[in-house]
Amino acid sequence: MPFPFKVLMHQDISGSMLILWILCINIAGLYACPRPDHFNVTDYGAVSSITVDSSQAFLNAWNSICNSEVDNPTLLVPEWRTFLLNPTVFSGPCKPKRINVEIHGELLAPPLPSAWAKHDPGQWLAFKEVSGLRVYGNGRINGQGFGWWNQSCKYHPGMAGCIKLAPTAIKFLKCNETSLTGIHFINSSQTHVTLLGCDEFHIDSLSIEAPGNSPNTDGIHLQHAHNVIITNTMIGTGDDCISIGDYTSNIDIVNITCGPGHGVSIGSLGKGGSYVQVQNIHVKDVYFKGTTNGARIKTWQEGRGFVRGVIYENLFFNSVRNPLVIDQNYGTRNGTVKAKNGVHVSDVAYRNFYGTSASNVAINLNCSESVACTSLRLDSIVLWPDYRLKEVTSYCSNAYGVSMGVIQPPPCLNHTSFG
Ligand SMILES: *[C@@H]1O[C@H](CO)[C@@H](O)[C@H](O)[C@H]1NC(C)=O
Ligand SMILES: *[C@@H]1O[C@H](CO)[C@@H](O)[C@H](O)[C@H]1NC(C)=O
Ligand SMILES: *[C@@H]1O[C@H](CO)[C@@H](O)[C@H](O)[C@H]1NC(C)=O
Ligand SMILES: *[C@@H]1O[C@H](CO)[C@@H](O)[C@H](O)[C@H]1NC(C)=O
Ligand SMILES: *[C@@H]1O[C@H](CO)[C@@H](O)[C@H](O)[C@H]1NC(C)=O
Ligand SMILES: *[C@@H]1O[C@H](CO)[C@@H](O)[C@H](O)[C@H]1NC(C)=O
Ligand SMILES: *[C@@H]1O[C@H](CO)[C@@H](O)[C@H](O)[C@H]1NC(C)=O
Repeated sequence: MPFPFKVLMHQDISGSMLILWILCINIAGLYACPRPDHFNVTDYGAVSSITVDSSQAFLNAWNSICNSEVDNPTLLVPEWRTFLLNPTVFSGPCKPKRINVEIHGELLAPPLPSAWAKHDPGQWLAFKEVSGLRVYGNGRINGQGFGWWNQSCKYHPGMAGCIKLAPTAIKFLKCNETSLTGIHFINSSQTHVTLLGCDEFHIDSLSIEAPGNSPNTDGIHLQHAHNVIITNTMIGTGDDCISIGDYTSNIDIVNITCGPGHGVSIGSLGKGGSYVQVQNIHVKDVYFKGTTNGARIKTWQEGRGFVRGVIYENLFFNSVRNPLVIDQNYGTRNGTVKAKNGVHVSDVAYRNFYGTSASNVAINLNCSESVACTSLRLDSIVLWPDYRLKEVTSYCSNAYGVSMGVIQPPPCLNHTSFG
C-alpha cells in the first residue's frame, strides 16, 4: 500500500472523505477513488436483482443527497446492474441548488400491479418539487408494463376489474430548471414521461419504446408545463408520441422520430368542459412512420378556452392515417350532444408537409360548430396516397384561413376574414 494511504488509515478520517479523495486522485487516479459528491446507490444497500426491492436504498441515497451541503452532487446508478424499485417518490425541496441523477444501469418496475396496493396507481417513479435537477445517462427505465396491459379496459372492456389508470413510468411534479437526457424508456405500463407543473424543462436524446398495441403508453405528456424543449428523441409506443395538455405554453419540439404511435398531439383538451390555455407550440422536423396521426389537435366538444400560436413545420410522413387533423368533436362521436362551448383554435400554421397518407382524408380540419377554427395557414403541402390507396382528399368544416402551395390534396379552407 502506498505511503499516503497508510498515513491516512492511522488517522480518524470519518467525515473527511474530501481529504481522502484529494490524496486518492494524486496517488491512484480517479477511478479507484470514492468521490464525496457522488452518492452511489450501492453504498446505500441497493442490490442488483430482478426480485429484491431496492427502493428504500434509493430513498436513503436521495435523502442524503437532498440534505447534503455539497454543491452539485450526483446520485449514481452504476452500469451493468439492474435495480427493482417499488413505487417511489423522490421529494424536494432540497438543499443543493443543482442535483444530478446519473443512470447507467437499469431500473425495473415490479411486474405485477399488486406492488401498488399501498401506492398511487398513477405513477411508478416521481420527482416532486425538486428544482435544478438533471437526470441523464445511457441507462434504461423499464416499466415491465405487460402485467397491466393484459388487464386494461381499453383492450378488455368487458373484463371485471379491468384497469383504467396504470402508472406513468416517471413523473416530474412541480419543477423548475430540469433536464432529462439520454435515458432509454421501455414498456411503461402507461405514459412513459409526464411533466406536471414544470417550468424550463429540456428533454434531449431519449428513446422511448413500447409495443404499438400497448394501451395508452404515451411517450411524453405535458400538462401545466411552460418553456419546454424536446429534441433529438425517438418514440415508438401505443399512443401519442408526444401529447400536449391543458395549460401549456412555449413548447419547442425538434427532430423527433415518431412511430408506431398516435402522433404529436395537442390534446385531448377540454374534457368535462375544462378551460384550456395552450399557446406558442412549435413542432419541427418530425418523421412519422406508420402512425395513426401526424399533426393532430383534438378537443372535447364541451371544452372552453383556446389553442393559438401553433406551428407544425417540416413534417415527413410514411403511411400515416391522418397526417394533418383537427378534431373538435372528440368524445361525442354519436352526434347527439351539441355543446355551445368549444375550444377556439386559431393562428395555426402547417408548412412543408411531405409524404404518404394511409387514409383518403389526408387533411381533415373538423372544427367546432359553435367556435370555428380561424387564421389557419397551410403552406407547401404535398401528400400522396400510400400504396393501398388511389387518391387523397381534404375535408374542412368550420375551418377558416389561407392555403398557399397546397399541391395535394386540394385545399379546402374557407377564405373568410372571420375572426
Ligand atoms: C458504484 O458502486 C459499484 C459497486 O460498489 C461500483 O462497482 C462502481 O464502480 C461504483 N461507481 C462509481 C462511479 O463509483
Ligand atoms: C419554481 O419557481 C417558482 C417561481 O419562481 C416558485 O414559486 C416555485 O416554488 C419553484 N418551485 C420549486 C420546486 O422550486
Ligand atoms: C397478466 O400478466 C401477468 C404477468 O405475466 C400475469 O401474472 C397475470 O395473470 C395476467 N393477467 C391476465 C388477466 O391475463
Ligand atoms: C416490451 O414488452 C413486449 C411485450 O411484452 C416484449 O415483447 C418486449 O421484449 C419488451 N421489451 C423489452 C426491452 O423488454
Ligand atoms: C436527430 O435525432 C437523432 C436521434 O433521434 C440524432 O441521431 C440526430 O443526430 C439528430 N439530428 C440532428 C440534426 O441533430
Ligand atoms: C367530423 O366530425 C363529425 C362529428 O364527430 C363526424 O361525424 C364526422 O365523421 C367527421 N368528419 C370527418 C371527415 O372526419
Ligand atoms: C351519445 O353520447 C352521449 C354523451 O356521451 C350519451 O349520453 C348518449 O347516451 C349517447 N347516445 C347513444 C345513442 O349512444
